[in-house]
Amino acid sequence: MLCLTGPTRAVTIDPPVLLAPMEGITDRIFRSLIAPHGGLGAAVSEFIRITVAPTPQRVCRRDLGPPIGVPVALQLMTPDDSHLAASVANAERAGAAWVDLNFGCPAPVVFSKCAGSALLAHPERIARIVATAAAATGLPVTAKMRAGISSPAHLRELVAAAAEAGAAAITLHARLRITSYDEPATWAWLAEARDALARCARPVPLIGNGGIETAADIVRMRAETGVDAVMVGRAALADPFIFRTAAGGPAPTVAEASAWALGYLDAIGSGSPKAKQLVRYWRCAGMLADPAQRQALLRGPTPAIAGFFTSLVPAGPAPPATRTSG
Ligand SMILES: Cc1cc2nc3c(=O)[nH]c(=O)nc-3n(C[C@H](O)[C@H](O)[C@H](O)COP(=O)(O)O)c2cc1C
Repeated sequence: MLCLTGPTRAVTIDPPVLLAPMEGITDRIFRSLIAPHGGLGAAVSEFIRITVAPTPQRVCRRDLGPPIGVPVALQLMTPDDSHLAASVANAERAGAAWVDLNFGCPAPVVFSKCAGSALLAHPERIARIVATAAAATGLPVTAKMRAGISSPAHLRELVAAAAEAGAAAITLHARLRITSYDEPATWAWLAEARDALARCARPVPLIGNGGIETAADIVRMRAETGVDAVMVGRAALADPFIFRTAAGGPAPTVAEASAWALGYLDAIGSGSPKAKQLVRYWRCAGMLADPAQRQALLRGPTPAIAGFFTSLVPAGPAPPATRTSG
């Protein structure tokens, strides 16, 4: 169990396994379809960028969606502290379980505006942003960051800056800004960050992230690095049952996995580009192990994707006959 403690409110994350924020993937639909299967302790929304005005409460509410039975944090990204306090207050009013701050986004448009991972060059700005957010709410405020821009040389200083400024926990994505998502994460940096946080005047928990591929990796990351919790990114789209399996539940069958995929396709709408995104990542229950089959689905028409999954779900019992009166 992980406890995030804010000035007046605390959040319990049990089990200590979180769904990562992933723009274009982990929206409220995805989160609502993942949570019921168990094993998920909490989730974080896709980032909302603060630009020329505070993020309105209605935008926070829309991104959070209806309750899903586990705490959901709202993630904000900002280059500085203007409009931050009001945005954080709106997130709290909208029902966020806590507020997460993004110091990891590598996108060039974000980087050029000195937000996301660009702030990794400025620990003092990270500290000011965290302190402003923490002073604006009774909720816990957390910081999610990479290990550095082009080197992990300032990793200890970065995590300490956020912790000392009032973060309730740090999430470390164990890659650099320049590291591509295809390269392995460096879990040794998680152990280093854990050590740095333990030496802080204000020690706070560390959430480890990066390179989780299987349920066994979740257990292994905790054992090898000492992180207090694990955050799962892309593997959750590859296998939405990864949280259940990591919690000791059964591995999904092909039929169960396909039924989940069909539910997802139905929820996003048949023509959504997210259908092909699902195929790109999907390997639940050992499916799409043949690259040629995956390529064929990616090249084919989008509706064929639903057809593929439908063919793997056994036909259920006939629906009960409709009773008519009179
Ligand atoms: C498509 C995509 C979108 C992402 N969007 C966000 C985001 O909105 N906020 C954030 O902090 N990280 C974002 N990330 C980074 C993930 O939260 C996570 O740190 C990263 O995927 C590493 O974890 P993994 O190796 O388990 O996938 C995104 C990653 C991907 C692949």
